[in-house]
Amino acid sequence: MPQREWSRRDVLRQCLAAGVIIVPAGWGEAEVLHAWFDAQTALQPTAHVEMGPFYRKRAPATTKLRPAGDPGLPLTVTGRVISTNGESVRGATLEIWQANHGGLYDLEGFHYRAAIATPANGAYAFESVMPGHYPARVARHVHYFVTAPGQKPLSTQLYFSTDEVFGGDPDKNYAKDPLITSRTLVRPVTLTGKPESATASVEFELVMEKA
Ligand SMILES: [Fe+2]
Repeated sequence: MPQREWSRRDVLRQCLAAGVIIVPAGWGEAEVLHAWFDAQTALQPTAHVEMGPFYRKRAPATTKLRPAGDPGLPLTVTGRVISTNGESVRGATLEIWQANHGGLYDLEGFHYRAAIATPANGAYAFESVMPGHYPARVARHVHYFVTAPGQKPLSTQLYFSTDEVFGGDPDKNYAKDPLITSRTLVRPVTLTGKPESATASVEFELVMEKA
């Protein structure tokens, strides 16, 4: 396995994370300040969640996952793919898959599956329906597998604060689904329109870690 080459900034970051500052001679003040600032403002990478058994390769390149006329609460998800220093990740591909309104995965075809290549600013959006519950899992969810040059692959899942299983209090109840590894994966849902024609929208930012 090739040894990772540590930059001065990496070393400083480690020192700062450990609560000590050791600045060898020859390291400039600007560099120390940059490293300190980076350490203070670094974002946590998005929590990992297992991919599960229903992933399929070669999903179609589309942002419209919902076939016309399919039942379910229309759902729009938007977000950005960024790095832990807050910059846009270039060249990211999001693979997304979920159950339909009735809690079923399409294991023959590619309904509710997509591969989305993001532009340089890392922004993404797709249209779907609120995924249904299914017996093997507690909470409604959308699977993500995100890859990008120079970043660690990210397998995660998006959950919904309005999910009945959280009883209106995801802070307290998010762990009712043992696969929810972080409260931050449970996102607020904005409902608009009348009850009979409501649509849901959710924002889900993805933070990738440098490889
Ligand atoms: Fe699933």
